Amino acid sequence: MDQIGVNTLRSVQKLIKSAMKTRVLTAFPNLPQNSFEIQLESISNNLNFEYKTPTVIRIFNQFKKQNLFGDLKTEVEVAQKVASTECQDNVIQKVEAIDKGFLNIQLNDKFIEEEINALLVNGLKFPLEKKQKVAVDFSSPNIAKEMHVGHLRSTILGESLCRILEFQGQEVVRINHIGDWGTQFGMLINHLLEEYPDYQTNRPALKELEDLYKEAKKKFDSNEEFKVKSQQFVVKLQALDPICIDAWKMICELSRQEYNKIYQRLNVKITEYGESYYNPILNEIVKECEAKGIVELDQGAKIIRVKGEKVPLMIVKKDGGYNYDTTDMAAAKTRILEWKCDRLLYLTDVGQWNHFKLVFEGAKLMGWHQPPNTSMEHMGFGLVLGPDGKKFKTRSGDTVKLIDLLDEAKERALKQIQQRVQENQQGKEFSTGTALSPEEFETAAERMGIAAIKYYDLKQNRISDYNFDYDKMLDPKGNTAVYLMYSYVRMLSILRKSGIQDFEVFKADHKFKITHQHERHLAAQLLRFVDVLQSVTDQLAINWLCDYIYDICVKIAEAYNQYRILNDEHTQTRLLLCEAVRMVLLQSFYLVGIEPIEKI
Ligand code: ARG
Repeated sequence: MDQIGVNTLRSVQKLIKSAMKTRVLTAFPNLPQNSFEIQLESISNNLNFEYKTPTVIRIFNQFKKQNLFGDLKTEVEVAQKVASTECQDNVIQKVEAIDKGFLNIQLNDKFIEEEINALLVNGLKFPLEKKQKVAVDFSSPNIAKEMHVGHLRSTILGESLCRILEFQGQEVVRINHIGDWGTQFGMLINHLLEEYPDYQTNRPALKELEDLYKEAKKKFDSNEEFKVKSQQFVVKLQALDPICIDAWKMICELSRQEYNKIYQRLNVKITEYGESYYNPILNEIVKECEAKGIVELDQGAKIIRVKGEKVPLMIVKKDGGYNYDTTDMAAAKTRILEWKCDRLLYLTDVGQWNHFKLVFEGAKLMGWHQPPNTSMEHMGFGLVLGPDGKKFKTRSGDTVKLIDLLDEAKERALKQIQQRVQENQQGKEFSTGTALSPEEFETAAERMGIAAIKYYDLKQNRISDYNFDYDKMLDPKGNTAVYLMYSYVRMLSILRKSGIQDFEVFKADHKFKITHQHERHLAAQLLRFVDVLQSVTDQLAINWLCDYIYDICVKIAEAYNQYRILNDEHTQTRLLLCEAVRMVLLQSFYLVGIEPIEKI
């Protein structure tokens, strides 16, 4: 049983690190205990060793002058000594010195078996060490403009990140910081009242609302009188004039209906705390900053200079209005002081990196943000480009509508599933012996299309731009959601064919035991789950989880080629491993937003 919680999973890396440290200190008792920590890397393509460490090289270089290693002259000799040191622990089976002083580490078979058996019985509970309250600011589209692919990316990454943090046991606040309070509302309201005086009874649809935006912008840029009047509308809105507020509400509501459709399709849960949410406290925030003595006047604007940054934070514009910087300062204070969040994460494209750097520094100057007790991080990401690597546009040059993207992915997935089913029937592929009803086809296509888009996004190194390419997303042989989903179907079909009715009973009655090198290999991979998730949330790199899931599926496919599962003397233990894989896959799917298909 773990100290962290009852029946939680354990971090294998932590156990190895501590066992390895003991081993190094046993080999060299004169080393100062606190002078080193073991660094570990996992190895995924070696059947005998699961981890390796370069730490001996570091220790050697650090202490060679102090004569701590006797007559051992090189890091390789030191590594060999560590490898051959007898040590009684139940985690490591074998250590081998390889070139340059690296050490390869093999997990103990019995340890692997015990951990898999515990997982089967206890389920997947994450060993959370320190509970935090985490604010995840994601999606955050702008009112009156349709969501674009950048918002799609923020939405997909944010939802997955929230799911992972929640799975780890963190308290997560999912925040939609929508742009609902900018100066754009002045011209929007102005134009709305001019063009749609009857808007209360005759509501424009979003398409028109977006046109409204474009037209208003055009007028604003070319017509001085319109511009002046629009600026007056901003002031009126901020003074909560009832007519303006009413028009503003209508505009927000129309946009909201549109992006809620996307959230529903993508299965995203998020709560709106838009820019307007902070309106009531903007005055006092500015006063507070002034009282702190960090505000300067700059040609009528109020700014906060941040060390090392050319551009300052501007909390009051020349015309006296507030802006994006002001609301983000107010949001920072609210999230840290009022909501008591320990960690604040912001998901936008990398283009806003500077903005957030200023806000984080500003919050620090105000004393709200006090690292390391609080942490503010920008989880920036690259652009989504068209398949040709250029700006993502439709053939006619318009911006691409998100709903259209989802629809097309679904349509393509449907064609692919139909083709696969046909091939199955012709016996080209494995046959699962099940038939889908028309509704099941629909559901499968929707799930696969959406999953393909999400997974393709999540598996990227988030900082890089990527090309939106349906063929690559839906490739059944690559590192795609489609490949993963088919692996899962195949796995379920094996479990189904085993004829076991109740796996709960089966799990309680039987124990997993390693009978084949590839079982060991697959099982060891499963046991990395905790460490992978930990590094995902430490480094904000969801792609590592994707690689992990893909690797499991590749290893199952390898295992199928190496041994029989059904009708074998080892069937029972192999079924247990299948069940453990199923559990880890299903949980991982949820974390990356894949809704699995059960049969095809
Ligand atoms: N609405 C902004 C945009 O579309 C993103 C907001 C991100 N969150 C924040 N707290 N600034 O660019």
